[in-house]
Amino acid sequence: MAAFLAEKRDFRLGSYKDKCIKRRIAIRIRATSSASPEEYLELLNRDPQEIDLLLKVLTIHVSQFFRNPSTFTKLTTDIFPYLLFKAENEGRAELNIWSVGCSSGEEPYTLAILVLDTFAEELDKTAVSIQATDIDERILEMAQEALYEPERLKDVPPLLKERYFEACNGRFRPVQQVRGMVCFRQCDLLHENSFVESDLILCRNVLIYLERSEQERILRMFADALRPGGILVLGKSETLVGTARSLFRTVCPVERIYKKL
Ligand SMILES: C[S@@+](CC[C@H](N)C(=O)[O-])C[C@H]1O[C@@H](n2cnc3c(N)ncnc32)[C@H](O)[C@@H]1O
Repeated sequence: MAAFLAEKRDFRLGSYKDKCIKRRIAIRIRATSSASPEEYLELLNRDPQEIDLLLKVLTIHVSQFFRNPSTFTKLTTDIFPYLLFKAENEGRAELNIWSVGCSSGEEPYTLAILVLDTFAEELDKTAVSIQATDIDERILEMAQEALYEPERLKDVPPLLKERYFEACNGRFRPVQQVRGMVCFRQCDLLHENSFVESDLILCRNVLIYLERSEQERILRMFADALRPGGILVLGKSETLVGTARSLFRTVCPVERIYKKL
């Protein structure tokens, strides 16, 4: 299976955690009523659409606006003011944010909403650009279409929902001003080695699915991508591992916020 996916889609199955992968492949074997893994592999050979479906379940896309709201509170009260002050002090007119494994766009749009709502005045001096990347091109198309079912917005404070979303036939879309702040790009973390210089990187609920050695390599790459004093935010069940620990200082252990040394 690993060789097949590498050949057909350049997908590195071996870098993902075994337990996770086996469970998810078993889901597709059952869903397609394949009698055995071998029969499922035959189906994959015949049907490129099934490869798409398999990759979709392997790269879990769960997300929502303001996921783990306390993390966004901390970003608004402490991290953004620090980064905006730092950029101004260093004479830079732009702040670069990178949302890694952005799925259908909820995380980068949440960042755009917070920046617009809380730091409107600062935006006159410092432009904020948000780059959002994911391995999955289809999920990025959905992110750009930006139409969300109401449950994805359940943690959005009512006032922000009113200000920054428009209703569209029972679904919701962030307003143009918010959408215009985010630039989406396809990027496979397991292949890419060079990154845009960033002030803030959010990589939440992505590393958890990867083998420890890959986590360590990617964390080291984040350290390379961040400007000195830049900030890394991981998911609530993720942490720094191995040699990457010496490259960051913990700012907030609860919210998994780290500063590049
Ligand atoms: C569970 S979602 C997390 C979404 C968002 N960061 C959040 O916390 O709400 C994980 C995302 O990581 C992406 N992903 C998985 N493997 C990846 C890889 N090798 N490179 C880039 N993105 C990847 C998946 O496509 C998926 O959209």
